[in-house]
Amino acid sequence: MRTLVTAWHPNGSRTVSVVEHMETFAPPALAATGVRRAFGHVQAVVNATLSVQPGSVTALIGPNGCGKTTLMLMLAGLLKPDAGEITVQGHSPAIEPKLTRTSVGWMPDVLGTWDSLTCVETLETFGRAYGLSQADARAGAFSLLERVHLADLAAQPARVLSRGQKQRLSLARALVNDPPVLILDEPASGLDPRSRVELRDLVRQLGAEGKAVLISSHVLSELDEMVDDAVFMSRGSTLGEAADAEVARAKTRWRVVAVDGDVAGALATLGRDFTPEADANAAVVSIADDADAANVLAGLALAGVRVARIAPVGSALEQAYLTMEAERR
Ligand SMILES: Nc1ncnc2c1ncn2[C@@H]1O[C@H](COP(=O)(O)OP(=O)(O)OP(=O)(O)O)[C@@H](O)[C@H]1O
Ligand SMILES: [Mg+2]
Repeated sequence: MRTLVTAWHPNGSRTVSVVEHMETFAPPALAATGVRRAFGHVQAVVNATLSVQPGSVTALIGPNGCGKTTLMLMLAGLLKPDAGEITVQGHSPAIEPKLTRTSVGWMPDVLGTWDSLTCVETLETFGRAYGLSQADARAGAFSLLERVHLADLAAQPARVLSRGQKQRLSLARALVNDPPVLILDEPASGLDPRSRVELRDLVRQLGAEGKAVLISSHVLSELDEMVDDAVFMSRGSTLGEAADAEVARAKTRWRVVAVDGDVAGALATLGRDFTPEADANAAVVSIADDADAANVLAGLALAGVRVARIAPVGSALEQAYLTMEAERR
């Protein structure tokens, strides 16, 4: 963007200059820079840097024990980093812990419940703790139970819930005070297929409402449809641009499967970068975008290849993850 800027000088003259603006970005709702944390001699998080913008959903991905939960606990203000900087809505949890607690909705990987409280009482108690009136806390609790499809179990003690039902109650609890930032640690674990789809829709909705969402999961194919961005972690460190490049590369890998005709021969003639598949009349081709895919399809048709399917190869996040894991072994 360009703007004309007029400067008036003391002698009455003026100069007009054209100023080029950088794109103006909203400050991140959640950010970590060079964060570190050890437990005794175990270095759980070595060097983590990430940021999540308002209105976006970011995945935190990495193998068991790489430090995701530890990092999320620090971002939620529940664990102190040994070094590095964290900001939530521009404020440091170390300096303003109360502000962080009210800005972040935290969903732990396993929900602890109070034995004596029902589902609605659990949410009501949290609502009260956030300063809501009794009536508002109760109304809010019922509406959240509806949102996570637990309304039928409102009067049941939370301890009798199944694992998946507990996950949904835990998600509702994270939403009690309508926080601008949500940190969800493996929210889909233990959910049945319908609940997973509902979770995906709900997370997308929360993003669309303007919340910043950080979500960890091991089911990468599900994250593909849910997230705007992904941060990969390995052995306590976030991987940054190398991982972004790998995801971008994975997105360009498409599989072409033909009914008849010579797929590999035709792709070679078209000068495409591809890998033939040994056990089928198929190949994995590098394709830049939808328009490029249409070009390949037209080229194959002209060469007499009858294409049955052409589509991106599986999940881009999963592909990128597997490639990076293989490289790091
Ligand atoms: N309270 C603790 N005391 C000692 N070590 C811990 C503690 N919490 C985590 N760790 C260690 O820190 C490392 C990172 O653990 P963390 O739970 O953050 O991993 P994760 O990426 O969330 O793994 P997962 O995918 O299995 O949930 C592990 O080696 C773990 O054993
Ligand atoms: Mg974990």
